[in-house]
Amino acid sequence: MKENDSMMTVNCNGKLPFIAEEKITVTQPFLPPLSEVNGFMEKIWESKWLTNYGNFHKEFEKALADFLGAPYVALFTNGTLALLVALQVLKITGEAITTPYSFVATTHALWWNNIRPVFVDIEPGHCNLDPDKVESAITAQTTAIMPVHVYGHPCKVSRLQEIADIYGLHLIYDAAHAFGVQSGGQSIANFGDLSVLSFHATKVFTTFEGGAIICHDARTRKRIRYLKNFGFAGETTVVAPGINAKMNEFQAGMGLLQLKYFAYVVEKRKAITSRYKELLQGIDGISFLEPEPEVDYNYAYFPIFVDSGQYGRSRDELYEHLKTYNYFGRRYFYPLISSFNIYKSLPSATAKNLPVASRIADQVLCLPIYPALELGHVANIAGLIRNFQSFDKR
Ligand SMILES: Cc1ncc(COP(=O)(O)O)c(C=O)c1O
Repeated sequence: MKENDSMMTVNCNGKLPFIAEEKITVTQPFLPPLSEVNGFMEKIWESKWLTNYGNFHKEFEKALADFLGAPYVALFTNGTLALLVALQVLKITGEAITTPYSFVATTHALWWNNIRPVFVDIEPGHCNLDPDKVESAITAQTTAIMPVHVYGHPCKVSRLQEIADIYGLHLIYDAAHAFGVQSGGQSIANFGDLSVLSFHATKVFTTFEGGAIICHDARTRKRIRYLKNFGFAGETTVVAPGINAKMNEFQAGMGLLQLKYFAYVVEKRKAITSRYKELLQGIDGISFLEPEPEVDYNYAYFPIFVDSGQYGRSRDELYEHLKTYNYFGRRYFYPLISSFNIYKSLPSATAKNLPVASRIADQVLCLPIYPALELGHVANIAGLIRNFQSFDKR
């Protein structure tokens, strides 16, 4: 059969396969009912207090701490600024070990702090920094390890903590994908010296833009609060060269609303994930990730990995093929951060040093997943993936 033969544009209740009527993107934010948003907007209008530790800010910080079971939360205007401040608050210098398999903000945060990123390869099980390869990358200049819980799957936290303790290194997690994830009944945001969350529009929990740092004591949080507010420690006292990274009242109100719906959002995402897995089972050369048994996962992403030798088509061919049906997956994370011009001359950035990350970056395709995605689309996407092997290659 040739591509697009015998197909019609129908909605997702029609026969498979079909071309989606509208562009289906990899994600779409869950938004609470507008009437509820208007409710908190009215309160902001009445108070005329838009930012600088307003009532919603205080309320959301507390609600988030309760939700995460992490008492020391500091809210930020986005995750990138939270990463920058996390590195400042621990005074990280010299070199930090990190993963090339992430969104560029992870490495950029190091660069902005004048810290040299040292890339270490990932493990294939969950695409996270491989603890077995960390020790050999430690030098006299290393002061920190900055791993990422990629797709929300927890890193090997005990092993990484053990290494950090032995070598006297700080451990800062980029937990941008891991909102709401628990491991062994504990929030994943509780691990490491600091964990950084993102509430960007593409994330499983969103305040349009937003982020947070989770720390373990009041003193550290106090310093974080200074740093995110220009270094102000009082009306006329500036104690550090801080930045402006405060979350505003609109974002905080949004956060309070979103918390109410988080369980619903995860339930919807879980159902989509189960359907994908069921329908993609047993296709030669297509694999996906499984959460560890002790993990309560947030179903933030649904990445598949295309082994072109077995599947008969490359990841890029599949990516383009799905686009012709109006399904826009994303190659997260491709290219590797280490292959961007700004970082590729670093000694640790070679493909030889990063064989697993290099292979996975060429194989990965994140499929559409969001609460409003109809299961008919999931079935269509899975059918397109299954049938693509037998399509005429001309
Ligand atoms: C792994 C990772 N780190 C950091 C960020 C940056 O967060 P933000 O967009 O909230 O600045 C993102 C995504 O946006 C991310 O995916």
